[in-house]
Amino acid sequence: MTLTLPTPRITDAESVPALRWGVIGVGIAGSFVAALHAHTPQRAVAVTSLRPERAAAFAAKHGIATVHPTVDALVADPDIDAVYVATPHPLHHAQALAAIAHGKHVLIEKPIAMSAAEAREITGAGRRAGVLVMEAMWTRYLPQSDIVRQVIADGLIGDVHLVQADFGFVAPPDPAHRLWDPKLGGGALLDAGVYPISFASSVLGAPIAIHAIGATLPNGVDTRAHMAISYSGGGVSLLSTSLETILPIEAQVMGTKGRLKVLSPFFGPTGVEVAVGQFTDVEVATWRDERYPGMYDAMCGEAIAFASYVQDKRTESPLHPHAEVVAVMATIDEVRAQLAAASTPRGA
Ligand SMILES: NC(=O)c1ccc[n+]([C@@H]2O[C@H](COP(=O)([O-])OP(=O)(O)OC[C@H]3O[C@@H](n4cnc5c(N)ncnc54)[C@H](OP(=O)(O)O)[C@@H]3O)[C@@H](O)[C@H]2O)c1
Repeated sequence: MTLTLPTPRITDAESVPALRWGVIGVGIAGSFVAALHAHTPQRAVAVTSLRPERAAAFAAKHGIATVHPTVDALVADPDIDAVYVATPHPLHHAQALAAIAHGKHVLIEKPIAMSAAEAREITGAGRRAGVLVMEAMWTRYLPQSDIVRQVIADGLIGDVHLVQADFGFVAPPDPAHRLWDPKLGGGALLDAGVYPISFASSVLGAPIAIHAIGATLPNGVDTRAHMAISYSGGGVSLLSTSLETILPIEAQVMGTKGRLKVLSPFFGPTGVEVAVGQFTDVEVATWRDERYPGMYDAMCGEAIAFASYVQDKRTESPLHPHAEVVAVMATIDEVRAQLAAASTPRGA
């Protein structure tokens, strides 16, 4: 028997409403807007940033008509349907709430906020206002993630017992960079760790117990975190993140009949390898995502999903419900607390 993988279900970019997007920030937002404009009818129509000259250059590069001087002006723009928040994490909470207060749908870069409490406030405000709030956890909206969901739901790898996932790299220490600055939400967990934690959550649900070890700088920025997490269904995850270690950036799910691996770097469009059987009696099938030349082109997937949810008048993503977004932030809160407690000098 030949092992065949499920076909990913991909929403046609032309089948969803073309939203008018307002963009806050011009860092990763450049990749997002380029992907929108290259692969969908979605359009960025306004932008704002901290430095007006950066916003103006961004607008010229991407053919964006309006540059707003402030976030307040952008969220009040009546010609915008959705706001994309792509600023350092500590700004997400206030900027998302401002967009929601003006009745805008809002896509917020990962992590949605700095804590579960902030995430709860944002998602609650969105629900009350009747607008869509979505974390830009773009991995969820990749075709390979649809294959993973189907492989697990179809029982191809049996009952799932273990998830292993990691995201670590070596970032040159730079106190001015947002990765290293606590005021800008620095640390491995919030920037990279959110991906393996969210992946494990998508497979195993909400944690019941978390054990974390790692390393933290004196200013509180975590540089390494290793987590063993258990879940009510009996599953366990082993997760790692780092700013100073080269990790494989893979995600694996192991069950009673086989295992699957999301190829490196698993957070972006790569592929899925499924192996059924054990020892020398193993069948392997691989699916690769070869749709686009560049990794970030696949960011268009989350925007297409977002527009389809707006069309369906949803206030949350069915692939990433608010309760789960909050639970992932609660996991990060707990891991950060355990690392901070472990690094507190005795008697301090
Ligand atoms: N999905 C992904 O693959 C991905 C990849 C990278 C980052 N991210 C996430 O995206 C977010 C931004 O990261 P980044 O790498 O783009 O950071 P970045 O390169 O530092 O860019 C941040 C942007 O925010 C702007 N900004 C800062 N303060 C602002 C304020 N008060 N009002 C308006 N704009 C302000 C900055 O403006 P100026 O340029 O004008 O100074 C800059 O353009 C983070 O939450 C990160 O986790 C996601």
